[in-house]
Amino acid sequence: MAEKNILDAFKEDQTVEKIDTTRKLKVGIIGCGWIADAHISEYKRMDDVEIVAGADLIPGKAEAFFKKNGLEGIRCYPDHKSMLDSEELDAVSVCTYNRTHAECTIYALKKGVNVLLEKPMSVTLEEAVEICRAEKESGKLLSIGFQPRFDPNMKMIKKIVESGELGDIYYIQTGGGRRRGIPTPFGTSFIEDKTAGVGAMGDIGCYSLDMVLNAIGYPKPLTVTGYTSAHFGQNPGYWKAENKPTEYADLFTVEDFAAGFVRLEGGIMLDFRIAWAMHLDTPGDTIIMGTKGSLRIPSTECWNGSVGGAMKIYHEVCGEGVITEIPILHDHSRGCFYNKIRSFLNAIKEGGSSPVPSSQIIINQAIIDGIVKSAKLGHEITVEIPEI
Ligand SMILES: NC(=O)c1ccc[n+]([C@@H]2O[C@H](COP(=O)([O-])OP(=O)(O)OC[C@H]3O[C@@H](n4cnc5c(N)ncnc54)[C@H](O)[C@@H]3O)[C@@H](O)[C@H]2O)c1
Repeated sequence: MAEKNILDAFKEDQTVEKIDTTRKLKVGIIGCGWIADAHISEYKRMDDVEIVAGADLIPGKAEAFFKKNGLEGIRCYPDHKSMLDSEELDAVSVCTYNRTHAECTIYALKKGVNVLLEKPMSVTLEEAVEICRAEKESGKLLSIGFQPRFDPNMKMIKKIVESGELGDIYYIQTGGGRRRGIPTPFGTSFIEDKTAGVGAMGDIGCYSLDMVLNAIGYPKPLTVTGYTSAHFGQNPGYWKAENKPTEYADLFTVEDFAAGFVRLEGGIMLDFRIAWAMHLDTPGDTIIMGTKGSLRIPSTECWNGSVGGAMKIYHEVCGEGVITEIPILHDHSRGCFYNKIRSFLNAIKEGGSSPVPSSQIIINQAIIDGIVKSAKLGHEITVEIPEI
């Protein structure tokens, strides 16, 4: 296997995709900011996609966005409603900041449009429930934009757990973070409560939760003890050192660090922490502990959607403690972001199920919501996810 990987590392993308170009899909983009660029780049590579419309609240932003991306004749709208009221679309990418994820997604689903929704699913659990209900009523497809799902190393984590190699899982530690890395690439939409709603958890924490919860089949959370803080984001000195406006400290109204201790169904404890900034390199590797073995997943310079080094399984062979190393697997496909969009479009065309279903990600959101609520209350809370 190692030999095959060495040879594979020199190969160009050999995959030949069979795409039915006789049926073109009409696509619209809601929110023409930073991540919309990644969506449009991938849609442009697909022969069965016709990008027809886009919307952004900021006047002129959608027009400038399509021009920059070399697309002409795209109809631009001042918000998601006017676009969805005027256009006949097969699919939309919801690329707005977190606070408007729910309203844009629900409106699109109600209009009979399939939705690829950027992560995090929403800000609150209540919004996630409303999204799931709208999806169910509409009969349309909703996929949540967790591209690391398509990384071969992430798939390997799930395969290892499902193989039974680790036995029954009873404790998981996950999360990670950056020593300095509060994201303000094009303004303050990540750091203000009115646009982001959640900070480090909604940006990168949801990925690390998905990495382990997807591997173990997304058991429901029962209770959560949560903690959040903002010691870096609310400090003008942080922004000065980063050569950013010190006024950002006043605007900073989300968390830059969060921790949660979560009791999951099936007798599993989940220990989670995530940081946008800290006086530390990493709060620890991800570990999945089982009755027959444990898996260590080295932390990354959070979060590039992969693993930070070779994974290790600690287990026993003939009664001796041994370590099995899993070398990093290289992705020779068109990349995670392409695959996240392609899998969504394929599911629309083929009537398949959602590649990253809301029925799973609502649990991810319930944990984030539980941490926020528990942190505010200062004690453990019980999590209840209503029937959809
Ligand atoms: N998957 C990834 O790798 C990845 C990376 C970065 C960001 N994201 C996610 O993408 C989302 C957007 O992030 P961003 O950095 O692009 O933000 P951004 O602030 O650059 O862009 C968001 C845009 O949405 C527009 N908008 C908000 N509500 C709208 C509405 N109702 N109708 C039309 N336009 C609306 C805003 O005006 C803004 O221009 C966030 O939820 C973030 O978590 C995902």
